[in-house]
Amino acid sequence: MGALDDLPTLGIGISTSLHVRRPDFRSLLRAYPRLVQFVEFAVEHGEADVLPARLAAELAAGVRFVAHPIELSLDPDATPAPGELAALRAIVRLLGSPWTPQDIGTWLWNGEHLGGGFIPCSLTREALAVACDRVRAVQDATGVPFLVENPPFAEVVGPMGLGEFFSELCDRAQTGMLLDVGHLLSYQLARPGDAGVADQLPLDRVIEVHIAGGAWIETADGVVFWDNHGGEIVPEARRLLAQLWPRLPRVRALCFECEMRPDDRVVAELSALHALCPLP
Ligand SMILES: [Fe+2]
Repeated sequence: MGALDDLPTLGIGISTSLHVRRPDFRSLLRAYPRLVQFVEFAVEHGEADVLPARLAAELAAGVRFVAHPIELSLDPDATPAPGELAALRAIVRLLGSPWTPQDIGTWLWNGEHLGGGFIPCSLTREALAVACDRVRAVQDATGVPFLVENPPFAEVVGPMGLGEFFSELCDRAQTGMLLDVGHLLSYQLARPGDAGVADQLPLDRVIEVHIAGGAWIETADGVVFWDNHGGEIVPEARRLLAQLWPRLPRVRALCFECEMRPDDRVVAELSALHALCPLP
C-alpha cells in the first residue's frame, strides 16, 4: 500500500462548491486556520475552465484543496460523460488535490446530472466489477488515488455486504476508502441484519472520513437516516465516529460536510470534532 502511505495529512476541513453561499469558506479559512486546514471542493467537469479564476487568491495563498467529483458514474447502467476524465485531471492538477473521493453510484443518467439524488451502487458482483474498472480508469487519468466512498442508502439492493463490497473494491482497484459516517449509519438502518459491517469494512485503507448533519425521516417502509448536510450532527453519528476513529491507522483527513450551515454553527461543530478526532 505504498501509494496510500505516501499521502499527506490534511487534518480537519470543510466542504463547499462554486454554488454554495454559506458557510463562507474564505472567512473561515482566515479566522480559524486551526479548524479549517483544507477545503473539499465538489466539482463538475464543466467547471475546469472557471475554477482557476474563482480560486486564484486561495491557490496563490497555498490553501489545500481536495477535488470531490460529483458526476462520475460507477455503475453498470450508467453512461460516462465525454471528456469527464480529462477535465477531472485538469482540476486535480489545478487544485493540487492529493486524491479524489466520490460515492460509488450513478450520478449521471441519460446525460442528466442527478446531484444529491444520485443512486447508490447495487451491492452485486456485476456492479463491483464495473466499479473496479472505472476506479482504475479514473486513477490512470488523474495520477492520484481515487478514494471509494460508501454511498447513502434508503434501501439496499444486492446480496453482498457493504464491508465485503468495499474491501474487495479497495483490494482489486488498489486504492483507499473514504468512510462517510452518516452513510454508514443509513446502511446500518437499511440493513439491520448486517450487524458486523464495521468490522468487515477495510478500515486500514480509510484515508479520509466524512461526517455531516442529518435527520431521521419516517417513511411508509420505516425510518431512514437522511445525511442532508444541513442539520446538526446526530448523537448516533458522533458516537459511531468516536468508535471508529481509533481503528483508522492511515486516516489523513476529516471533512465536515456543512453546505448551507451558518458560519457560527460550523465553527462550533468543527471545535467539537477537533477534540474528538486527534489529527496534527
Ligand atoms: Fe460524503
